[in-house]
Amino acid sequence: MKITIIGTGYVGLVTGACLAELGNDVFCLDLDQAKIAMLNGGGIPIHEPGLAEIVSRNRAAGRLHFSTDIAASVAHGQVQFIAVGTPPDEDGSADLQYVLAAARNIGKYMTGFKVIVDKSTVPVGTADRVSTAIREELDARKPAGAAIQFSVVSNPEFLKEGAAVDDFMRPDRIVIGCDESASGQQAQALMKQLYLPFNRNHERTFWMDVRSAEFTKYAANAMLATRISFMNELANLADKVGADIEAVRHGIGSDPRIGYSFLYAGCGYGGSCFPKDVQALERTARAYGQELHILRAVEQVNNNQKHVLGQKISERFGADLSGKHFALWGLAFKPNTDDMREASSRVLLDELIGRGATVAVHDPVAMTEAKRVLALDLAATPGAFERIRFCDNQTDALNNADALLIVTEWKTFRSPDFEQVKTLLKAPIVFDGRNLYEPEVMGELGFEYHGIGRSALVRK
Ligand code: UDX
Repeated sequence: MKITIIGTGYVGLVTGACLAELGNDVFCLDLDQAKIAMLNGGGIPIHEPGLAEIVSRNRAAGRLHFSTDIAASVAHGQVQFIAVGTPPDEDGSADLQYVLAAARNIGKYMTGFKVIVDKSTVPVGTADRVSTAIREELDARKPAGAAIQFSVVSNPEFLKEGAAVDDFMRPDRIVIGCDESASGQQAQALMKQLYLPFNRNHERTFWMDVRSAEFTKYAANAMLATRISFMNELANLADKVGADIEAVRHGIGSDPRIGYSFLYAGCGYGGSCFPKDVQALERTARAYGQELHILRAVEQVNNNQKHVLGQKISERFGADLSGKHFALWGLAFKPNTDDMREASSRVLLDELIGRGATVAVHDPVAMTEAKRVLALDLAATPGAFERIRFCDNQTDALNNADALLIVTEWKTFRSPDFEQVKTLLKAPIVFDGRNLYEPEVMGELGFEYHGIGRSALVRK
């Protein structure tokens, strides 16, 4: 099938490459000339396991094209995916200017029936606005344009960064919202054909109306964020009452109604989805005169949780950290990505440096991105950025540090040579923001260990 993907950001690039891998002829459009030049030169703008291989294989096979040519992109695809960014507005609602501009371009150039798929995470009601934008452009091309039919479909993505290719190729579910009109039914038939490879052995598609599909994406992310904030708040209480949050997690997760996943306490969630989507859903509710009290709390708890390591460090070393030096492992908001958006490491570094400390940091892949982002974060305070030393490997970062801090749960941090860690640190103290280690084992190894919600197991 001929497919166009508008926007070669994270979602667009993964969707385009994976649909090409299934044998479709995919045209990816982006207005960023540098990005398109990079992709056409064999480069990949993001770090995502498996993506580079798929892009290169399908480009070589002639099934995956990158271009800045809007007219050609509209002409190419029977199905047009809108996968452009929806950055938060100043008030936290999703900014739809890029989505609507993409819709207008489709309306300007289309000459026959098209299915337009909203792939970007967009507020409930966006498909209607996309329809209106396209219809206005078609009507402006009277009489020929007015006769052209189209259908706007909602097909939210549920990709996790670091596992996006796998999530796309082996989806738990595919959510598609179509309307009941004749065009809607035509769109449904095309979407069925497009996703057939995933549904052969087992039907994974949930068909619903457009607004429910749009809502499902927000509901899923809000639910997951809620589980995390719930556990983080309980972990802080567990520290006070002397309970172990990991034991509690096992105890409740074994109930199939609760389940184990997304119940890990830590130093807060980050990334491009949870913070943005929780806020956007709150904004949507407010626009309809309703307050989402639970989500407001979820957001507040998460903002506080990003300070939890800073607080534990204060309790141990005092508020003034001048003269103190820390080793920090993990900068990305989660493992297997170089994404620094809303990463907890940024809040912690800002706090430590603001309080006078120096920090040696290492992340297996996010170093370049971290340098860029942290330079901006700390730009207002002269000399602040220079207080961070970027180390090529995790061992180098340990040298002479007053404590080791862990912020991202990368696999390579799970089983370090603890004897070496102890020798290199000035004092064997670990603040583990992702509960990677067992407090009792750390105690036996001679470490002073601070986890999240695990103080019950620390030998006094
Ligand atoms: C998320 C959703 O999982 C995905 O379905 C959606 O399409 C986009 O948003 P992503 O942002 O890539 O994906 O990351 P995810 O793996 O969900 O982790 C988000 C954050 O939550 C990370 O900072 C992670 O460290 C944190 N987290 C996750 C916890 O603190 N505890 C947990 O139990 C799980």
